Amino acid sequence: MCGIVGYLGKNEKKEILLDGLQELEYRGYDSAGIAVIEGKQLYNFKAVGKLENLKDKTKSYFSEGFGVSIGHTRWATHGKPTELNAHPHLGAYSYVVHNGIIENYQELKKELQSEGVNFLSQTDTETIVHIFEKYNRRENKTPFEAFKKTIERLKGAFATLLITESAPDAIFFAKNGSPMLIGFDGADVYFASSDTPIIGKAKEVYYLEDGEYGYAKTGEVKLFNKDGERTFSTKPLNTDKTSAQKEGYRFFMEKEIYEQSKVMSDTMMGRVKDSSITFDEVDASLLDGIKEIKICACGTSYHSALTASYLFERLAKIRCSVEIASEFRYKEPLLSDDMLFVTISQSGETADTLEALKMAKRAGLKSLSVCNVDNSSIVRESDTAILTRAGIEKGVASTKAFATQTMVLWMLSLYFAQIKDTIDQKKLQDEIDAMRHVPKALLVTDTLHNKLHRLSKRYLHGHGFFFIGRDIFYPLALEGALKLKEISYLHAEGYPAGEMKHGPIALADSELFTIALMPKTLHYDKIKSNVEELSARDATICAISPEPFELADDFIQTEYATHPMLEFFEMMVATQLLALEISVRLSNDVDMPRNLAKSVTVE
Ligand code: F6R
Repeated sequence: MCGIVGYLGKNEKKEILLDGLQELEYRGYDSAGIAVIEGKQLYNFKAVGKLENLKDKTKSYFSEGFGVSIGHTRWATHGKPTELNAHPHLGAYSYVVHNGIIENYQELKKELQSEGVNFLSQTDTETIVHIFEKYNRRENKTPFEAFKKTIERLKGAFATLLITESAPDAIFFAKNGSPMLIGFDGADVYFASSDTPIIGKAKEVYYLEDGEYGYAKTGEVKLFNKDGERTFSTKPLNTDKTSAQKEGYRFFMEKEIYEQSKVMSDTMMGRVKDSSITFDEVDASLLDGIKEIKICACGTSYHSALTASYLFERLAKIRCSVEIASEFRYKEPLLSDDMLFVTISQSGETADTLEALKMAKRAGLKSLSVCNVDNSSIVRESDTAILTRAGIEKGVASTKAFATQTMVLWMLSLYFAQIKDTIDQKKLQDEIDAMRHVPKALLVTDTLHNKLHRLSKRYLHGHGFFFIGRDIFYPLALEGALKLKEISYLHAEGYPAGEMKHGPIALADSELFTIALMPKTLHYDKIKSNVEELSARDATICAISPEPFELADDFIQTEYATHPMLEFFEMMVATQLLALEISVRLSNDVDMPRNLAKSVTVE
């Protein structure tokens, strides 16, 4: 996820910016840059990869005296992680940094190009600086008027800082949907996308609200919203960096569970249109000659792959099979060139998945990857890659990566359905309408979290958990069980509910905990009778469903929804929180469970 810093004052700016960016490293990035304006002097440095590279480039540069400065760490969304795509973006005499996504950038870019503006990068961000300069010097507006007009033209989520030679004593700022704060220390003004870069530097802070914009000069910040200028009050800045990184949550995993709603909007942005799905990165010709999809992945990514197999067959009517990458590699699989080979990986570095992809490529298959890390080995190796845009995931137990993978795969199955004409417009519209409700389905309410906190104390013993579900809720059951075993160290299995009677039901007794995923929109009666069979054998049942279920020992009520995927995402959050709360009660290390690594780069 991108990070922003800014500083206005007399102190050495390079050090302040680089220090600030260092504090944002934990969010993940693939390039970084800084820009400084001191009077008529403009300085700009960018580097791909780690901050060390940027430090190296700026070794012999030091700012002197008063100036304005901005810096950025970029996590690629539009365009590859290259120096040209790194922020700050330069117009003719101004620089901009931006977090979020400008949804209407293509329209703005066309307008500017028709007026003769040259774009250097593939980013949405670069449009901001060019519109500003259009209004400022070409249309003779003051820098502030030009900035205000620029912000009015932007659609989407953004937090942005702009500095310009036209007003070398000011930093212009705006926030809408992405975080941004202003720090104060006497006459010096700081900006950042979260607390950590300014802890130890600023003393007071103001957290900008959506729709606020303005400018900072020495010792002075003017703030506006749609109703005009407004006053604001600052508060003392927190001083604990690690807790600031966790943004008030106890664990990174908890923060990432809560973040899912927001990152999902990023995942969908620019892809879910009013009445169609688009993936700029996937050419429709990818499906030419394709009769079958083969997906390979490991762990949690394998669970999103399994979910996708239902969706590809159901919506796009393409045969789909899924394999665990470590099994696939040695089974001497039969591959043919009418197969599209899909790999799914959060890190893009999982050794087994990468090797499976190489095998498929050697066999001449077309390949597509769904990944969270641009420029990772799997992305580089694939013919086509779709980024999930979840931002860096720090908790070893994957949460938001799984959610965004599943969302991308749902969108992809509809995109393929459009290409293959296997879906009518009415059905497509229903799917798109449902997609728009996903961020809401992922919101964690206090009621839900408190309920799971209370319930968790009843599930700290016993001889095992069975998570059961049917259809797409079967892979979700597998994922729920995996989450629980990873961080609680209790034995848990995911099982297709209809399969319990073929063996596992022998384990049923009051010490067998069954977490039953009982969506109302998909095979409710079927799963209900499977759960009744377990209840009849005295298994302890924790039902997750919108529909009250009289045989449940514990009941987690979800919303009645119009689409199974909405139930899927809401139940996913409930299982993640259940695992988290059990792990906390058992005093385990939630973010770094024993024996596990975030990226498994060995076979
Ligand atoms: C579980 C988890 C792992 C990974 C697996 C594959 O919470 O994170 O099961 O899903 O190691 O990793 P990626 O997705 O990076 O290929």
